[in-house]
Amino acid sequence: MRKESELSLKMKATAIAPASIALIKYWGKRDDRLRLPLNPSVSMNLSACLTTTTVEFATGHRHDQVEMIGEEISEKEIARVKDHLNWIRKLGKSRLSAKVVTKNSFPKSSGIASSASGFAALTVAATAALGLRLPERKLSTMARIGSGSACRSIPDGFVEWKEGNTTGSSFAYSLYPPDWWDICDLLLIVSPGGKKVSSTAGMAEAWTSPFFEARLENIKDRIKKVKKALKQKNFILLGETTEEEAVNLHAVMMTQKPPLFYWNEGTMEIILAVCEWRNQGLPVYFTIDAGPNVHLITEGKNEKEVRGRIRSLKNVKDAIVNKPAKGAVLAENHLF
Ligand code: DP6
Repeated sequence: MRKESELSLKMKATAIAPASIALIKYWGKRDDRLRLPLNPSVSMNLSACLTTTTVEFATGHRHDQVEMIGEEISEKEIARVKDHLNWIRKLGKSRLSAKVVTKNSFPKSSGIASSASGFAALTVAATAALGLRLPERKLSTMARIGSGSACRSIPDGFVEWKEGNTTGSSFAYSLYPPDWWDICDLLLIVSPGGKKVSSTAGMAEAWTSPFFEARLENIKDRIKKVKKALKQKNFILLGETTEEEAVNLHAVMMTQKPPLFYWNEGTMEIILAVCEWRNQGLPVYFTIDAGPNVHLITEGKNEKEVRGRIRSLKNVKDAIVNKPAKGAVLAENHLF
């Protein structure tokens, strides 16, 4: 057989992957290089927050090129993509350089960590372009090496990431398909622009919080509760556990050294309003990742009512409405 370098080769594939909202959050790694987490997590894929990525490996490409449509991409982010391509080339026994073009469906101002959808789409597109046919579990472990949360954007719907203790045992799988439960995630934008401290940098210092060990201990109980709530479609249990988890995570963030204060005035306005709406009988809960923007979780039947109430909040600049979504898929239409 001739070597790939002797042939004029062009191998191209495109994938679409969703971002997700973690109901139980990932915060802290046991292995930084392999991105093995210290705790399991549970998430829901978001239908309106998608990344599309086309990867082409070709003899004509002298070096890796990475482009993001409509957004700036930093040298650091490009280096992370190239590192990930190296993992995938190793797996596919290829030495070809790649051209990568990617685009997000959600505005940069949303503060959504595009690393989850980004590395999931990159993994699916790049492995397919190299002709690798990998099972979902392997795709999930590969995506995890790019960005931990990306492993959860591979399977469908409501997903659990088993923490594992080796690269092969740390992967995500689908608990339930998207149509299992009509949950609505309203992402409220209070602050444009990216976050000041990345999740990667922030979680590296998680252990400095005096509350971190307690968090790892009681997260086991919250995982059980969230899984039970999903199984039984018990919305109050889901909401209460999700909210408790978010507050617990931010208590750790705020007590790390140096402390991380992701919340701002707009975040607090929403938190207080949600508590008030609940007192008035509306079942809606909040959760927050590593930034000031807030996700409201409610059932589809209450979406309209919640959307109406959001209008009274003076700091909310935009709202993105998400339903549970499929995981990463290959797509026909290439970006170039
Ligand atoms: C707060 O997956 O972005 O959103 O593995 O270092 O790339 P890296 O971190 P990342 O962390 C996400 C953290 C979070 C919680 C979560 O999504 O579970």
